[in-house]
Amino acid sequence: MPDWNQIRLDFPTLRQEVNGKPLVYLDSGATSQKPQVVLDSLARFYLKDNANVHRGIHALSMRATDAFEGARARTARFINAADSAEIVFTRGTTESVNLVASSWCSANLRKGDVVLLTEMEHHSNLVPWQQAAARAGATLRYVPVVGADAELGLDLEALDRLLTPEVKLFAFTHSSNTLGIINPAAELCARARKVGSLTLIDAAQSIGHLPVDVQALGCDFLAFSGHKMLGPTGIGVLYGRKALLDAMPPYQTGGGMISSVDFFESRWKPSPERFEAGTPNVADAVSLAVAMDYLDGIGREAIEAHDRELGAYMMESLADVSGIRILGPRAGMPRSGLVSFALADAHAHDVVTFADQDGIALRGGHHCNQPMMRKLGLASTSRASCYVYNTREDIDRMVASLRRIVKFFSGA
Ligand code: ALA
Repeated sequence: MPDWNQIRLDFPTLRQEVNGKPLVYLDSGATSQKPQVVLDSLARFYLKDNANVHRGIHALSMRATDAFEGARARTARFINAADSAEIVFTRGTTESVNLVASSWCSANLRKGDVVLLTEMEHHSNLVPWQQAAARAGATLRYVPVVGADAELGLDLEALDRLLTPEVKLFAFTHSSNTLGIINPAAELCARARKVGSLTLIDAAQSIGHLPVDVQALGCDFLAFSGHKMLGPTGIGVLYGRKALLDAMPPYQTGGGMISSVDFFESRWKPSPERFEAGTPNVADAVSLAVAMDYLDGIGREAIEAHDRELGAYMMESLADVSGIRILGPRAGMPRSGLVSFALADAHAHDVVTFADQDGIALRGGHHCNQPMMRKLGLASTSRASCYVYNTREDIDRMVASLRRIVKFFSGA
C-alpha cells in the first residue's frame, strides 16, 4: 500500500497553517491540490519550451508540439481510448459537455427525441441539455434518485420504463459530487446501447479516483477536468468515439481547425483539431499528463481503495454527531471519499466558517445540484471530500470541530 503520509509531503500547499492551525484540506471535490511535479512542469514549459504549436517549424515550436501531442497520447492511454484522435482538449468538464450538447445535438437531436439524465446531475451536465432540448424541440427525462438519506441511489428499475427508443442520448455522472455514490457506469451504458441510445459519462469526480477505461465502460463520450485530478485549472478533456467526432460539426471556428478557407466557405480538419480552434492550452495539457503519471505512480486501484476507506470512516465517525443528517449510498454500494451532511442547528455556511477557524477546508451550499437538493428537502449541505493526501487524522480533526460547532449552536 502507498505511504499516504509520505504522499502528502509532495503537496506544497498543504504545508501551511490556516487560522493558526495546520491546514486540513477536505475540498478536493471542488478542486484538488497540485503535487510539486505538476508545478515544476508548468514552470519548465514556460521557462524552456514556450511556443505556439502546430504552425511553427522552429525548435521551440516543435518541442511544444511534441509535448502537446504527447499529452494527448498520454491521455488516451490513461483512459484506454483506442486512438489519440479521440481526445479533444477543452477547458474542463463543463466545456466538454457543452461541446456535445451544442455540436452533436445540433446535427442529431430532433423534435420528439429524448435526452435521458439522472436526478443527481451537476448543473454542468443538466443545463446544457435543457438548452439543447429546447433548441431541438426534444424533451428531457430523469432517472430518479430514491431511498432514505443514507441509502440513496439511482432507481435502476425505472430504467426499463425510461429507456425507450426515443432516447437518443443518456448523460450521467460516474460519481456524484454531492452523494458520494459511484454509479454502475458500464451497466448504464450497456442498457442504453440496447435501445440505440448514445451515452455520455461525466467523469469529473471519478477520473483521478479510480481506473477509468472507456472501452470497458462502453461509453460514446466521456468528459472530465484536469484540476480535480491534481492537474492545472483551465484544461479538460472530451473523449468521443472517432466516428462520432468526425461526423460532428465544429463547436467553435477559427484558426487551427480548418483544412482550407475561401472568402465564402471553409472546410474542417477531422477530430481532434476540428474542435480545438485557436491556440490551445499547451502548458496545462502538458502538465495534466504529468499529473496522470503521478496518479499512475501511486496506482488508481490503491487510490480507489483509499477513497472508499476514508469515505466509510467518515460515515462511521459522523454517525453520532448530534442532529446530523448524512446523505450517501446504501451500505455495501460503491462509494467515494466524499460525504455530504446537514446539521439540525447550524446552516452549512456557518459550519464551513467555523471549520475554517479550525484550519479545516470544507464546502457548503447546493453543490450545483439544486433540483436534487430540493427533492431531498434541503437548501444546502456541508461536504467533506478526500483525496490522496488525506488521512484518518484529518477526519478526526473535522469531527472534533463539528462537535464544537454543534455545541455552540445548540447551546448545549
Ligand atoms: N463541481 C465542483 C464541486 O462539486 C465545483 O464542488
